[in-house]
Amino acid sequence: MALFIAEEQNHARLLARLLEAAGASTIQSHWSDAVFVWLRRALGLKLELMVLTIAEVVALAYYRVLRDGAGDRLATEVAARLLADERRHVPFHLDRLGEVSGVSRAAWRVLFLGAVLVVAADHGSALRVLGVTRRGFVREAMAEFAAAVSRRPVTNRPAVPSSA
Ligand SMILES: [Fe+2]
Repeated sequence: MALFIAEEQNHARLLARLLEAAGASTIQSHWSDAVFVWLRRALGLKLELMVLTIAEVVALAYYRVLRDGAGDRLATEVAARLLADERRHVPFHLDRLGEVSGVSRAAWRVLFLGAVLVVAADHGSALRVLGVTRRGFVREAMAEFAAAVSRRPVTNRPAVPSSA
């Protein structure tokens, strides 16, 4: 758990440095962060892990899109590192979470879809620059979630653009 937190803190550091390299500043807060923290704390451990897993799987889809579409060596490198970490975070949370089935699993998927729709709406212009439509991102993220919860690797990944 300590290592997981340290890795997430390292992700924040890498992303801040990446923005810095691009001459952009970091924001002090975002409403979605407050909602995420509130949701995690308001629910019991199992639901907290389900919410955390949602964030991690959305991150998987987002970092892959960033890695494959950035067309910038530094951004691609940072995204690839974060993606490699997230690929291990997701099974880590799922191991602690245990089996989620039936109604809980269906509700989990609905909550995931809600989170992905918010990200797609909020990051539409960034996704467009990365060569992905909002709809395409939602589709990829849903496939990522389905693969993650059924513990199988995602297949049919689009190839990395040659410009990267
Ligand atoms: Fe993570």
